[in-house]
Amino acid sequence: MRLLLIAPLFSAVSYGAQATNSSISICPPATKPANASDAIPATFPGYAFEESSFVYYAGNKTNPNRISQNLIRAVSQKTKTRPVIRVGGTSLDRATYDPNLSDPIYNPDPNSGIPTHLKIGPSFFDLFANFPEAKYVIDIPMYHDNLSNSILFAASANKRIGASNIYAWEIGNEPDNYGNTGADWNEKQFSEKWGNWSKAISKALNASLDSQTYQAVALSSQTGVTGTPGGDADSWKMYVLSLMVFQGDTYQKKIQRGDF
Ligand SMILES: *[C@@H]1O[C@H](CO)[C@@H](O)[C@H](O)[C@H]1NC(C)=O
Ligand SMILES: *[C@@H]1O[C@H](CO)[C@@H](O)[C@H](O)[C@H]1NC(C)=O
Ligand SMILES: *[C@@H]1O[C@H](CO)[C@@H](O)[C@H](O)[C@H]1NC(C)=O
Ligand SMILES: *[C@@H]1O[C@H](CO)[C@@H](O)[C@H](O)[C@H]1NC(C)=O
Ligand SMILES: *[C@@H]1O[C@H](CO)[C@@H](O)[C@H](O)[C@H]1NC(C)=O
Ligand SMILES: *[C@@H]1O[C@H](CO)[C@@H](O)[C@H](O)[C@H]1NC(C)=O
Ligand SMILES: *[C@@H]1O[C@H](CO)[C@@H](O)[C@H](O)[C@H]1NC(C)=O
Repeated sequence: MRLLLIAPLFSAVSYGAQATNSSISICPPATKPANASDAIPATFPGYAFEESSFVYYAGNKTNPNRISQNLIRAVSQKTKTRPVIRVGGTSLDRATYDPNLSDPIYNPDPNSGIPTHLKIGPSFFDLFANFPEAKYVIDIPMYHDNLSNSILFAASANKRIGASNIYAWEIGNEPDNYGNTGADWNEKQFSEKWGNWSKAISKALNASLDSQTYQAVALSSQTGVTGTPGGDADSWKMYVLSLMVFQGDTYQKKIQRGDF
């Protein structure tokens, strides 16, 4: 899990190991300097839970995780907005949706690091209600290349989390690493597949094709990636991203489906 930029919210006025109560003066200019940046949106900080850990950070309905709940509530109150939390990552990307699973998740191999065959059941999505202040970026599995299963996943998430609590969808995770594992997806194939998937998912949600927001793919920052077919790691990233049209001015890059 990464919870970014939470610490500064709580420590903005107190620096140093030994806090003293000596006063300081701050003199901002009376007028906005010409070189000032645009105002930073209150939703700027990004938050994320790894799919396989979310159950522990959320808790369940009867036993919610009060610490995470307090954190998210505090962020919401300080920023006067709904924090956007992305739930996903590699454990999500390699997971399978199982409509018959009664537990939220099942990890067949709990001792092997990042789960690669996690199963996710419908009740997983009920845990999202434990953070009523949040909106979500819902990451959808792609690695195993089963669009039918991913559509079941997205439809269940949409129904149980509620469309109004979903800020955006995301498809896959770090696809620039897929090539390393033998998947036959070069830059062009991935981009085309991404377009096909986003269209098919919106359609399955009975949503108009342009009503859904898709977050740009999250790419691996590993510099040692060598398996990306059709080019080196940097060219792969540039190619894929250049095919996606960014919209909006917040940190979440909004991509309209079908822009390539
Ligand atoms: C700073 O002020 C607060 C509130 O008056 C007081 O509780 C605290 O002990 C003071 N801290 C120090 C280091 O003087
Ligand atoms: C912005 O302008 C102020 C006043 O001219 C200057 O002191 C400051 O260094 C500038 N900041 C940047 C980031 O250029
Ligand atoms: C909720 O979580 C608690 C603590 O982990 C567990 O004992 C309980 O069985 C869970 N309840 C449900 C309905 O899963
Ligand atoms: C879920 O359970 C039903 C009824 O037992 C069964 O027909 C179906 O094949 C199961 N589906 C999966 C994905 O296991
Ligand atoms: C793909 O997903 C569908 C729907 O869950 C399932 O019926 C099918 O068996 C899966 N295909 C493979 C190859 O796993
Ligand atoms: C995308 O969809 C089109 C139309 O169904 C199909 O011809 C094409 O093969 C798909 N591309 C990929 C990479 O799956
Ligand atoms: C979309 O509409 C069809 C036809 O009315 C329905 O069968 C299906 O369940 C709906 N899907 C969702 C995700 O609401």
